[in-house]
Amino acid sequence: MVNIGVLVSGGGTNLQSLIDNIENNYIKNGKIVSVVSSRDGVYAIERATKHNISSTVISRKAFSTTQEFDIALLNHMKRHKVDLIVMAGFLSIVGPKLITEYHNRIINIHPSLIPSFCGPGFYGLKVHEAALERGVKVTGATVHFVNEIADGGPIIIQKAVKVKDNDTPERLQKRVMKQAEWKILPEAVKLFCNGKIKVIDNKVIIEK
Ligand code: GRF
Repeated sequence: MVNIGVLVSGGGTNLQSLIDNIENNYIKNGKIVSVVSSRDGVYAIERATKHNISSTVISRKAFSTTQEFDIALLNHMKRHKVDLIVMAGFLSIVGPKLITEYHNRIINIHPSLIPSFCGPGFYGLKVHEAALERGVKVTGATVHFVNEIADGGPIIIQKAVKVKDNDTPERLQKRVMKQAEWKILPEAVKLFCNGKIKVIDNKVIIEK
């Protein structure tokens, strides 16, 4: 059984997709042992509580440096014997200690087809605003391992979503979440928990 620690910062719809896919047995070999929010009062924590999942707030604001925040997160994950960290709508930067200790064991969901519309400053609605501004006809979501480059780690799964002429950023975000994020994140976690993901030369190979 893989112990999963989920990092959140907001509404927690991606956390919910993981909870639902564990409860319906799609993900058989993974268990969420802790939900950690970087901010107080977010609905993601209520989602965890409703499903009797242990949660806590490790507020980024409570730490004066990224290094201290990094160590606090690492200590928490080790205390809970976490094997896999999932960043699900997590808006803080994870530091080098966590990334090193959890090399190719931190998964992030990003709401675009990386390498488009990603990196520093591209998060939440801003990603979809940039996609609409550029006029792309297809966008989507990417699940990738986290390394020291923002949204730069090995790509695990991507799923494309058509952009519609009358799309607003909010409408596009909702469609990307529904048609892509909430599907490929559980799929990637399932593959990881079943030991089907290998990384060779920084490229992901998924074993059938
Ligand atoms: C989503 O667009 C997700 O892709 C991004 O953060 C947004 C909110 O996610 N990482 P959630 O509803 O908090 O899971």
